Amino acid sequence: MSLDYLSHFGLCADPFSKDIGDAELWLPPSKLSLVEDLTDAMHARASALLTGEPGVGKTCVLRALRHALAPANFRLVYCQNSTVGRRDFYRHLCLALGLAKANTAGDLFLAVNAHVEDLAKERVCPVFLVDEAHLLHQDTLDHLHILLNYQWDSKPLLSLVLIGLPDLEDRLRLRRNRSLYSRLHHRFCIGSLSPDDTNDYLRTRLARVGATKDIFSADALSILHEAAASSLRDTDRIATAALRAAARKKKKLVERDVLTRILQAEAEERS
Ligand SMILES: Nc1ncnc2c1ncn2[C@@H]1O[C@H](COP(=O)(O)OP(=O)(O)O)[C@@H](O)[C@H]1O
Ligand SMILES: [Mg+2]
Repeated sequence: MSLDYLSHFGLCADPFSKDIGDAELWLPPSKLSLVEDLTDAMHARASALLTGEPGVGKTCVLRALRHALAPANFRLVYCQNSTVGRRDFYRHLCLALGLAKANTAGDLFLAVNAHVEDLAKERVCPVFLVDEAHLLHQDTLDHLHILLNYQWDSKPLLSLVLIGLPDLEDRLRLRRNRSLYSRLHHRFCIGSLSPDDTNDYLRTRLARVGATKDIFSADALSILHEAAASSLRDTDRIATAALRAAARKKKKLVERDVLTRILQAEAEERS
């Protein structure tokens, strides 16, 4: 019953599933140029910072980056659990790189150094992606810049990409973290969405699962755009609720009243 709304709209799968293939991502010109800039930075073996409000699509940009970097030239290590302490963080890095456990910063430095030099001989560049980096403990931040200290033919051998909420940049600007901050040469921020972006996003994701015509009316779209406030995660949630509600009423077009009712119910739930 719960998936009946899909057949009602002639869709073959959940349009707003989190489970989206790297090659299927929505990449309007703004995101495409961000992915290109990040790709160029990785080719230059530089490090980068990527910030944005929750749900704007930071992790999805990383997935597009993963898709853009040839596996023969890059070894990507993705760390999502940034809340762990420094020692566990190092263990995670070693595990991801296929190295024996390191218990101290010194051990890790030696192990990673040797590994990175091996990779360099094979002309492979390691890229260490740390997601939710605003959650990193200060003592982990204190040591991260050590990872950027390698020099080989005067180029750093490891690219570090820190991804997090806007507070991350404020934290990195603090005097204590400026050594790390100064090594993150490329700083990107994913900004807010325009109404056209929201429209394009919804159309793209709906078309991917078989929609052949517009399912949202123009004013329903603008209400949805305002309510989601540039969060694609919220856009997904509200749009899904709207599809279900419209299907229950046997409507083929999601109109303003459906959206208003959903948002009202959400507001009541919160209060
Ligand atoms: N480029 C994209 N293509 C398709 N869906 C996206 C894209 N960016 C974000 N989304 C949708 O929005 C949700 C939240 O995106 P995510 O990248 O996890 O945000 P963030 O990491 O900034 O919190 C994803 O689960 C996905 O459904
Ligand atoms: Mg994320």
